[in-house]
Amino acid sequence: MSSTAAIHGAVTLAPALSGDLDEVMHVMERAFSPEFGEAWTRSQCAGILPMSGVLLTIARTGADEAQGFSLLRTAADEAELLLIAVAPKARQQGIGRRLLDHFIGHAEHCGATRLHLEVRDGNLAVRMYRAAGFETSGRRRNYYRGHDGTQFDALTLVRGSSPA
Ligand SMILES: CC(C)(COP(=O)(O)OP(=O)(O)OC[C@H]1O[C@@H](n2cnc3c(N)ncnc32)[C@H](O)[C@@H]1OP(=O)(O)O)[C@@H](O)C(=O)NCCC(=O)NCCS
Repeated sequence: MSSTAAIHGAVTLAPALSGDLDEVMHVMERAFSPEFGEAWTRSQCAGILPMSGVLLTIARTGADEAQGFSLLRTAADEAELLLIAVAPKARQQGIGRRLLDHFIGHAEHCGATRLHLEVRDGNLAVRMYRAAGFETSGRRRNYYRGHDGTQFDALTLVRGSSPA
């Protein structure tokens, strides 16, 4: 039996502020397994939000419940997707791809020509990133540390032109 529930009502994306962090952490705690050490803490999120070029976006259903979020940063001609997550029950219904497309659109609107992200090697999200035109540019060994101390490599992915 699938643990995914059909989402009723339109999903809307909206910019969020520090006052929305409760909702973000609610999704974060469900979306990321502590096995892999990929989730951010509330203080990490709160610390980055005031920084220049940082954008937090929440995906909500018509019922106003947060189903997912993304966190990105743009700087000059570069943009980085810092986090993207969808609540387990809302997955495989296109919300992740909408958040990713929003990142790409926002980055291009801001003048970024090179888009980056990091993802744990083996994360199913890699498939989504590749479908959106991201290619592997490197590997960071033992970048993530899970709750039992096990370490996992990160892949760095890039989309767009190479630096001159
Ligand atoms: C990655 C994640 C955001 C995808 O969200 P989602 O709403 O389920 O994604 P979508 O429904 O838009 O699917 C987009 C693509 O992702 C891939 N994908 C999503 N779920 C998948 C699964 N269970 N198995 C394989 N591929 C999958 C597919 O390529 C899919 O495209 P397709 O439907 O055309 O095949 C979600 O699984 C998640 O929150 N994971 C935990 C957090 C995480 O690891 N984030 C990434 C690192 S920051």
